Amino acid sequence: MSDQLTCPICGHTEMFTLVNHARSEHKIGPDVFKDRFPEQALCSTSFASFLAQRSVHRAGNVLRYQVSVAGTPMTAQYGVDHPLIPESDPTFVWTDTCRDVAEAIEHNERAFVYGPSGTGKSSLVREIAALTRRPVRRVSLNGETGVGDFVGHWTVTENKQTVFASGILPQAMREGYILQLDEVDAMQPEVGFVLQQILEPGGHLLLTDTGEDVAPHPEFRLVATANTLGFGCDSGLYASGTRTLNFSWLDRWDVVVHLDYLPAKQEADLLRSRHPSLDKSFLKRVVKAACDLRKAHAAEQLTTVITTRRLLALCARLERGNEFERALRVCVLNKVPQEDAKVVQETFDHHIGSLKNQSPTA
Ligand SMILES: Nc1ncnc2c1ncn2[C@@H]1O[C@H](COP(=O)(O)OP(=O)(O)OP(=O)(O)O)[C@@H](O)[C@H]1O
Ligand SMILES: [Mg+2]
Repeated sequence: MSDQLTCPICGHTEMFTLVNHARSEHKIGPDVFKDRFPEQALCSTSFASFLAQRSVHRAGNVLRYQVSVAGTPMTAQYGVDHPLIPESDPTFVWTDTCRDVAEAIEHNERAFVYGPSGTGKSSLVREIAALTRRPVRRVSLNGETGVGDFVGHWTVTENKQTVFASGILPQAMREGYILQLDEVDAMQPEVGFVLQQILEPGGHLLLTDTGEDVAPHPEFRLVATANTLGFGCDSGLYASGTRTLNFSWLDRWDVVVHLDYLPAKQEADLLRSRHPSLDKSFLKRVVKAACDLRKAHAAEQLTTVITTRRLLALCARLERGNEFERALRVCVLNKVPQEDAKVVQETFDHHIGSLKNQSPTA
């Protein structure tokens, strides 16, 4: 089927659609065109069905269309340029759990994502934003971030005028981007109480300093990430700095999603796609060692856990030609408590064996 169309006014031929040609050359929009040339299609049949399948429609200067993100249909935007829209990472590995976070962002549900360190919580939110072309701002709510930074504070300008400088939260609510709150289990309780207002559906923010009522932009989204669910931490890994979260606060999040380490095959695929020169079977063994150590941690035989982040750092060093023992020491062993180091070393010895003296590149 041909996608070529001929303009009934000037005879110019164009692929897929005459909309842009009619606008730029003849200064007529689609509605006028259809009135004047009811027999002439504006789009080829196959292009029209492509647009219909993806629900492409125009909103001002932006095209909106449907994309599947981890199996969830999401609305993406074409034609928006914003410094907070991240670049997509083609090596990102999608799991079934990612779907719940994608769905929450699409349908404006407040999502609380928790799980061990380095399981891809921050990367996931960023990746969803990249694929749907939404601006995202990430802010760490560790104990250092107070209400003044979050909501705003009074300040004196160069002209000696006292003005209220809007904080991170009202800015995100007005401009309509995803606000990703990291480490919410370490936030100051006062910040939690401020958030409580906007966790309600369509919740407004009242700026008590100025009396201003901030309504959420329709595209404003809120996602929290944390290592614990706010009931404390049994393993002790995240005990420092984390707090018990108020029950009614936690209850207001629409969805709570638990993210864990990737299944072994997918984790090995991730290491390989980031470090393609490393041997596939060698990477499988590295992941096996990490999985065994994670199981030992779950069984409380090990206080620490081996994160994907550490494996990626190890692979980066190996790819640069460092010998295995040396790379393992600086990327893994030196980060674990003394009492764990022996078990970690033995587990890697067991899985890597004699391969550690060979070049790990494929
Ligand atoms: N599913 C995944 N796909 C691709 N990369 C991943 C994935 N999961 C983790 N990573 C990689 O692991 C590293 C850590 O990920 P990230 O910072 O997103 O973890 P996190 O869960 O937010 O950790 P923390 O709790 O310490 O903040 C990053 O380099 C990230 O790219
Ligand atoms: Mg994170």
